[in-house]
Amino acid sequence: MKIVLATHNPHKRAELIPLLKPLGFDILTLDDFPTIGEIIEDGETLLENALIKARSVHTLTGLPSLADDTGLEVDALNGAPGVYSARFAGENCSYSDNVRKLLSVLSKVEPPKRTARFKTIMAFTDGKLELTAEGIVEGQILHQPKGVAGFGYDPVFYIHEMEKTFAQMTSNEKSKISHRGIAVRKMAESLHHLYSSVNRSKTLKKETA
Ligand code: IMP
Repeated sequence: MKIVLATHNPHKRAELIPLLKPLGFDILTLDDFPTIGEIIEDGETLLENALIKARSVHTLTGLPSLADDTGLEVDALNGAPGVYSARFAGENCSYSDNVRKLLSVLSKVEPPKRTARFKTIMAFTDGKLELTAEGIVEGQILHQPKGVAGFGYDPVFYIHEMEKTFAQMTSNEKSKISHRGIAVRKMAESLHHLYSSVNRSKTLKKETA
């Protein structure tokens, strides 16, 4: 079955494809649909944005679509940047602009209070059915970036159990524990149940016809 990942982000693609491929999906991304422009994510929550992306891409391609929306919630900032994580430092800012701003606003906050979490909401639609799944990982914001892998806030997001930031992990290590890895595994399980029961009922119909 074909499924379109509602993203142009090469990092997300690299994280999601190895987790979805073994389920037998034929995976496309927005790069396979160059005429689809930017999808405006104007929801007020991660759930709204994930659904906006999944529904828009399904409408534009006619194919089942899977989208994720992720936010970094910092306790000392009352949950900010949250749904605004991509534009924390302003419109069209870079990942390093966002990290610089985060480190600057947290400069006087001591380590025990630098707790934060990444939250991903994943949404799927095939036009008939909508499914959502959530993944959360807890960590702490460092005072300085460490590591060069990954993207976004990865270099300052430290996981105690691993004694590393996300940017110091291999993609395999990150996927095993990350917000996106957790959400996509939950989603993959629901999709597996759904499509194996659809295929079972198609086979039963054929056998009884
Ligand atoms: P998006 O809307 O899901 O693309 O995520 C919003 C922003 O959160 C991105 O622009 C990144 O800055 C950040 N982000 C999302 N996922 C991750 C991740 O896995 N690691 C680090 N930062 C992330």
